Amino acid sequence: MTESTFTPRVFSGIKPSGGLTLGNYLGAIKRFVGMQGKVETIYCVVDLHAITVWQDPAQLANMTREVAAGYLAAGLDPTQSILFNQSQVSGHAELGWIFNCVARVGWMNRMTQFKDKAGSNAEKVSLGLYAYPSLMAADILLYHATQVPVGEDQKQHVELTRDIAAKFNHDFKTDFFPITEPVIDGPATRVMNLRDGTKKMSKSGESDMERINMTDDATTIAKKFKKAKTDPAPLPETVEGLATRPEARNLVEIYAALEDTTPEAVIAQYPGAGWGTFKPALADLAVAKLAPISDEMARLMNDPAEIDRILGKGSEKARAIAEPILKKTYEIVGLLRS
Ligand code: TYM
Repeated sequence: MTESTFTPRVFSGIKPSGGLTLGNYLGAIKRFVGMQGKVETIYCVVDLHAITVWQDPAQLANMTREVAAGYLAAGLDPTQSILFNQSQVSGHAELGWIFNCVARVGWMNRMTQFKDKAGSNAEKVSLGLYAYPSLMAADILLYHATQVPVGEDQKQHVELTRDIAAKFNHDFKTDFFPITEPVIDGPATRVMNLRDGTKKMSKSGESDMERINMTDDATTIAKKFKKAKTDPAPLPETVEGLATRPEARNLVEIYAALEDTTPEAVIAQYPGAGWGTFKPALADLAVAKLAPISDEMARLMNDPAEIDRILGKGSEKARAIAEPILKKTYEIVGLLRS
């Protein structure tokens, strides 16, 4: 079997480790919706990944539901995409273990996200945080997924997934796992922090002013964009003028992604505009696009049983794809089934 003989299938996931941000929406969810209906799509709430750092057990289920509500509110349709949470399909953990025995410690040591998260505290973080990329490879390869839409920050993990698939295929003299492609396209694959354009916007940043949350109301969104850090110069006349201006570039890219256009087109619309013009326009656009989604998320969160039902059904569908792949993997590795 060669790469091209695998049926095209998309898999991606989001951790329920905090509220969803504009980065998750533009870098992931909006692009997930764009792929739906064109190819088989599987989208997961990766709760087993969330617990690599401490999660309050009383909150975790609700955060899992909130990510699911974000998927649904943004336009993922459970009749067109498989939507489920990872821990309901035990194959993720099982294949993750097998991949722990394929991946090399040296590979994990090169993971920049682990280094960033562990910082100077690497001895004290969980073993799960260290092994996280091999569980991520299992998420993807348990479904023989061929494409993985992610933001720029996950590129290295998808490359590791390719290395794990290639080593497994090589060690066991098979071509069982596909060599998955990361899909990192569009204007906002790395949405930056609103207070520091050199840092990624993340769920866990210190100040709430750094990020737009998908549940922020209109006033809060407007305030955060108004206070977003910029340099004093107005917008340039061409996109090249953004190259050395990270904060300005970020706001233009956010505008472009929300509007489904390119940074070039945004600059053409606002050449030389001052921040007093551009920031309110950006805030209005963000409110227009995000308010219907956050309203729908709130509505869905009022009916947790319905979200649980959707995730339960999605898990059944996911299991039906995963089980034969896991069974065959066990056979290839030589694990006795009796
Ligand atoms: P997570 O939960 O940190 O982020 C979920 C998705 O959102 C994207 N993203 C961003 N995109 C652009 N700008 C940002 N500031 C930004 N912040 C987050 C991420 O790139 C990601 O696509 N390890 C993954 C979850 C995962 C996964 C998988 C993804 C587990 N298994 C299998 C794909 C396939 C993570 O922590 O994403």
